[in-house]
Amino acid sequence: MTSIDDLPYFGHITEVKVFDEGGEGVVYRLSTTPSTPFPLCAKVMGLSMYRSENDRLFRLENEARVNQSLYEAGISVPRPVGLFRLLSPVHSSPVPGFVRECIEGRTYYQLFSWQKEKAVKVFEEERQKAIELDFIPEDCYPTKNCLYTVKGWSVERVTLFDFSFWRKRK
Ligand SMILES: Nc1ncnc2c1ncn2[C@@H]1O[C@H](COP(=O)(O)OP(=O)(O)OP(=O)(O)O)[C@@H](O)[C@H]1O
Ligand SMILES: [Mg+2]
Repeated sequence: MTSIDDLPYFGHITEVKVFDEGGEGVVYRLSTTPSTPFPLCAKVMGLSMYRSENDRLFRLENEARVNQSLYEAGISVPRPVGLFRLLSPVHSSPVPGFVRECIEGRTYYQLFSWQKEKAVKVFEEERQKAIELDFIPEDCYPTKNCLYTVKGWSVERVTLFDFSFWRKRK
């Protein structure tokens, strides 16, 4: 099993902003450099949810693995970068973090009511694609764990995230 010492350093993060805090983890927006090709964020598992460092790493590895396979299969998910040891101003010692593209999008609740029908449709199409690839989505709803991209006034696409409990059908 992987331990935090096996993970490469992402580098010292100088700027972290808590982007959002879910039930399981905290997502930080990372400082970027001119060479960073897209905006980045990192998910770090919270201390309250899991008993041990191993449990946290196990879930984070699942998240990273599923994100990677979905991305490779062409499902709309954030572009993955990888699992790293992060050292940040808010952590006294390095923590494992899953670094991936930070998506700019709207939540279901930020959409106008007349945009919601299309949102549910694009969401359901993306979820079905994942199911056809033998994934069993968990905690995946039009109203949760996805963001919508709106072009003009129209909902163009959905991006799914939060895969820590997803698994593949045997
Ligand atoms: N790649 C991303 N781009 C933009 N925002 C993100 C990204 N990943 C996570 N977020 C934001 O951070 C929040 C928490 O992320 P995530 O759902 O992965 O964590 P969680 O702790 O498992 O959440 P929960 O258990 O509450 O569903 C999301 O609701 C979303 O607002
Ligand atoms: Mg979530």
